[in-house]
Parts: sequence; structure tokens; C-alpha cells
Amino acid sequence: MSVTDANTGILFGGDYNPEQWSEDVWVDDIRLMKQAGVNTASVGIFAWSSIEPEEGRYEFGWLDRIIELLHANDIGVILATPTASPPPWFSKAHPEALPTTHDGIRLVHGSRDTYNPAAPAYRTAAAGVARALAERYGTHPAIRAWHLHNEYGTVSYGELVDAEFRTWLLARYGDLATLNRVWHTAFWSQGYAAWEEILAPQQTQYLPNPTQVLDFKRFSADLLLACYQEQIDTVRELSDAPITTNFILPPWLHFDHWDFADASDFVSIDHYVDAAGAEGAAHTAFGADQARSFARGKPWLLMEQAANTTQVGKRILAKVPGQVLANSVQHVARGAFGILFFQWRAPYSGAEFFHSTMVPHAGEDTRVFREVTQLGALLGRMGELVAEPSAAGAGAAAAAVNRPRVAIAWDADAWWAAETAGLPSDGFSFHRSARRVHRALWFLGISADFVKLDHELSRYDVVLVPSQLMVTDAQAESLRRFVWHGGHAVVWYFSGTFDADLHIIPGGYSGAFADMLGVRIEELLPMAPGETALLDDGRTASEWSERIELRGADALVRFADGGQNGETRAQAAGLPAITRNAVGDGSATYVSTELDDSGLAAVLTDVLAMAHVEPDAPGAGDGLEAVRRYAGDDSYLFLVNHSDRPRETEATGTDILSGTSYAGRLTLGPGDMVVLREPAR
Ligand code: GAL
Repeated sequence: MSVTDANTGILFGGDYNPEQWSEDVWVDDIRLMKQAGVNTASVGIFAWSSIEPEEGRYEFGWLDRIIELLHANDIGVILATPTASPPPWFSKAHPEALPTTHDGIRLVHGSRDTYNPAAPAYRTAAAGVARALAERYGTHPAIRAWHLHNEYGTVSYGELVDAEFRTWLLARYGDLATLNRVWHTAFWSQGYAAWEEILAPQQTQYLPNPTQVLDFKRFSADLLLACYQEQIDTVRELSDAPITTNFILPPWLHFDHWDFADASDFVSIDHYVDAAGAEGAAHTAFGADQARSFARGKPWLLMEQAANTTQVGKRILAKVPGQVLANSVQHVARGAFGILFFQWRAPYSGAEFFHSTMVPHAGEDTRVFREVTQLGALLGRMGELVAEPSAAGAGAAAAAVNRPRVAIAWDADAWWAAETAGLPSDGFSFHRSARRVHRALWFLGISADFVKLDHELSRYDVVLVPSQLMVTDAQAESLRRFVWHGGHAVVWYFSGTFDADLHIIPGGYSGAFADMLGVRIEELLPMAPGETALLDDGRTASEWSERIELRGADALVRFADGGQNGETRAQAAGLPAITRNAVGDGSATYVSTELDDSGLAAVLTDVLAMAHVEPDAPGAGDGLEAVRRYAGDDSYLFLVNHSDRPRETEATGTDILSGTSYAGRLTLGPGDMVVLREPAR
């Protein structure tokens, strides 16, 4: 069953919470939805207490009525299971199913996500409400897709979790001797003599056992995946509609996106942009490129974004006029088949009452609702982009929706490894490293996929590995093979230092990649916070340096002499900062420090030139975004000017937004965008 097609066009709409409103408001909702061009509503997301007000007693009347009303108005429904918010009756009856924090505090209900994923009572109740919904609506023609749960991400501790953790460890290690060896429990007298002695790593006296902590993160991710899979299995028995769950893309990670994407029929992300202008556009591109990459050829959907302000703690981030249009078009350029929001109508009370919505508190006569309506019209003109079936497993056409030639390594284990306590610097963040590299590429006008290094790399010309501390043997071998066959790799400092057990690979740091890089890293020289060092190309570096011995590689840039601040810099003076090794038909570049923006752009520009990778349109970069999207036999060139000055490029095709044809030189003013259907190549 297809989630979108030529009839639906690009999906447009958002989270819709009719249970929070009286039915006369529903009538007004439909009027405004029609006015804005909304064709999709995600319903039921946190509605558990409205659907099942008492254990086993379901109230479907309101849901029946709203689904019929939406259907009668040609608005498709993405039906959610409400399992992210167990109702008070449930928590009261099953206190063990409330989450326990790292500090050992059992939370109470009163917010949302107050569930313990290891609690059998929670799992049973979640499957129960999912089954009840699937029985009632599984074959309803309004149901376009299933949205299971909301942003899986709750980590819990406590006895139930300890027991599940032990079962997971038993399956992983088989016996205690192996576990003791892998966890290196001889250090600080942690040797386990019985499985019952093993606990999840809650708050303890000093540094915890690194591999125990990493395994707990892997376990917690698998536990959430098991919750998701249980609901998938339940719903799938009763419904053919495609199944998804929405990923949040913040700077924390509680599950492995690749695994969750594999389990889904299509990928959905929630993306809350963190800035305006070109910076915000770079952030949007990061989220969209991740979604498309995680989907690995399946379709993907922007499930949530904000129409205006996002309440982030005490901080309110507002969108500038036009931003929601530009960011939404970016998502479509990068493969999204739908643009949805959190949420439709602004509530006058409740926890997120200052979060922006498609229909603001001030009503329809507002800048925001006018822009939402404008967006609906814009997306309505893009229907041909989803004319091909985008159902689960649509195959090659979907896989090739964009065709970047650059990939950035992305790996959950590597993220978690970088969070290990007791590393030589507290400054590691895999997310930040990957984001920085992606941002630098975006400002150079280049799009990228994200990959796991053991995925197929041969369709790329450049693979970037931003401080991936931990790699498996298979990943290291895959990258080596890629380079050998003519690929160009750039590897950032401390990558490949640990094996999959979080053990340091002997013989020098970055041991998994050292041969390929042609270096031996003998000593780590992390810099103090705020310390900078001068490089011999006149640029600066920070965070990190190393004593590198060249073993075949050339030094492209070295640390310069002189010391204003910090002992580290004096030690690094004269040492290589960037090296390059020729390997087979390709090259392996190593960046042993945190380069400043111009240094990062320079090293990327150099490697892109070696690989003959260019932007999708001349002059793109520095805020002029150019992305080619493929649909059917056609290609579409999206051009969006996020900068504050007019920009020129060259392109040929017919703008599907305005109907205007262009051939050759084209000028875009600030905020302008076109989507050109290009002539057949
Ligand atoms: C998302 C969540 C929504 C809403 C939104 C606010 O993470 O799924 O329910 O809370 O954030 O930005």
C-alpha cells in the first residue's frame, strides 16, 4: 500500500489533536485545513487517556467521528498509537512501569513519556491499545499510514531493567568469563562471579566501567527497538497501511537510527531548525540528508517542524518570515514526500502552549497562517515529484532520489563511544563533529549522504570520517577497500582508536586506520579548552593535537612554531597537522586537529577537487543551495537563495512553481527559490 501517489501529491499537514477541542472547533479546523491545502492529519499521538480512559474500556466515538470527518473532506489520516503517554490509571496500577532515572529516582506521571520500556505491564498495555486501534481502523480507507508511538527515547534503570540487561548480556557474551574479559573487570575489582551481581550502570562513586556503559546504551536501544517491533507486529496483522515512527534529531541519541529505519516502511523525522538564514538552512539540510540516508532507499517524511517559535527550555526560537517556506522546500529537495508540522492549532493551555502551530493563538488572520497557506499552495504544485509510487521498498527510483557523491560516516556506537567518561578530552561529540563537516560541505554547495562504513561505499567518490572513535574490523576494511579502488577518504583525529569492545587498539592511536593513513600516532596532545594553535598555512587549530610519525604519508600542513598559550602547542610545534597517503588508486587524508572554518573548507575543497566533485549548479554554496532530485525519468533542480544578496547561477528548465522557463544565466534574489524540471539529459 502506497503512502503517497499522484492523487495525494506531497503530503501536507500536521499533528492534529481533536481530543483537546470541542466538536464545533473541528468544523472550523476542516474549513481552515481546506483553505491551507492540508491533505494529511496525524491523529491520536498522545491520546491514550481519551481512547482508553480505564483499563480495557475504549472510547472510539470521538475518533470515529473525526476520522470520518477528515475522510469526507479528502484529508488522509496518519493514525498514531498513543503509547508515549501512558494515562494515570495505568501508572497508578503499575508503578514499576514508571521510568527510573540514572540517579535511582522513580518518576511519577504528570508529563509524558513516563514509561519503563522493560516493564511487562507497559508492553502489554501498549500492544493492547495498538491492537484495539488496528482492529477498529486497520482497513479504514482514510488511514494512510501508522505512526507508532512518538519519538522513542525513554531510558530507564531499576530492577526490571537490570534483569533485561542481564538477559541481553547473556545472549551477547554467553558466559561470565567472556563478559569479564570484554568489560576488563579486573580493573578496580569488578569481576563478576554470578549474573545476578550485574547491574545497569546507575550513579556510582567515580568513573564507571566504559564497556559496561556502552553495552547499556546498546541494550537500551535494542529494548526500544523491541517495543517498536512488538507494535509493528501487532498492527501488521490487521492492517496493510505503511508503518513508521518519528525520529527526533537532537544532540542526543537513545536508539540506532539505522535499525529503526530498517524496521520501518518509511522513515519520519522531526526537525526543529536551530537558526535563521543560511545557518538554519545548513541545519535543515543536515536533518534532511540524515533522514534520506537512514531510509536507504525507502521514502521519508518530515513528520514535525515548527511553523514559528519552538520552545526549547526557556529559550524561544522564532522563525523569520519566509523561513518556513525555504526550509520546507529544502526538505522536499532532499527527498521528503511530505511536510508536516507539530501541530495544527494552538492550545490555550497545556504544557506546550507557547509552541507555535499552523493556526496560531491569534487565529487565521496572521502572518504565520498566511505563510502556512502559501506553503500548502507551493507544495500543491510539486505533486509530480511523488508521481512514482513511494510505497515501502519502492526500490531503485526511490533509492536514487538524490545522488550525492560524498558520504559522511554515521554510527550510533561511535556516538556512544565518544560519550565515554575518562577520555583524554571532555570535548568529544560525534554529533558535533559530523554536523561540522556536513555544515562545511553545505557552505561549499555540496550535498552528502550519511553511511555506516560497512555499507556499500562504491557509489561515492569521497567518504568523510569525523572522529569516529570506534570502528569494527569490517568497517575499517570497507574504508580501506574504498580507498584502494580509487576513493578519497578524510579521517579526523582519534578515529579508529577503539575496537567494537571499546578496547584501545594496540600499537598507536587510530590503530584501525593507521596503515591506510600511513601514520603512527605515538602520543595524544589534547589542547586545553579555549587554547588555539597556529598552523604553518596561517590558519588556526584547537582542541587536539598528536605526536605523529609519518609512515608513508606526506605532511600537508604542520603546526607552526611559537607559543602564546598552552604547553600543548609548544609540544606540537613542527608536528604534522594534516597528512595524506596515496593508497591504491585513491587517497587517505588525516586531520589530526580541529581546524578552524577556513582550514576545514580548504581541506574539503582540496579533496573534492581531487575527486572532481562539484555543486549541482555553478556558483552554489555560501547560502545558495542547489540540489538535484530525481523522480521517474525526470530530474529537478532545486535552487534556493538563503543568503542576503542576489546570487547568480546557470540552469535550464521549467520552474514547476511558477511555470517560467529558464535557459542559461539565472539570478535569484534573497529568499527566491525555483524548482526546475530539467530537459532530458
Ligand atoms: C517533538 C514532539 C512533539 C512536540 C514537539 C515540540 O519532539 O514529538 O510532541 O513536543 O517536539 O517541539
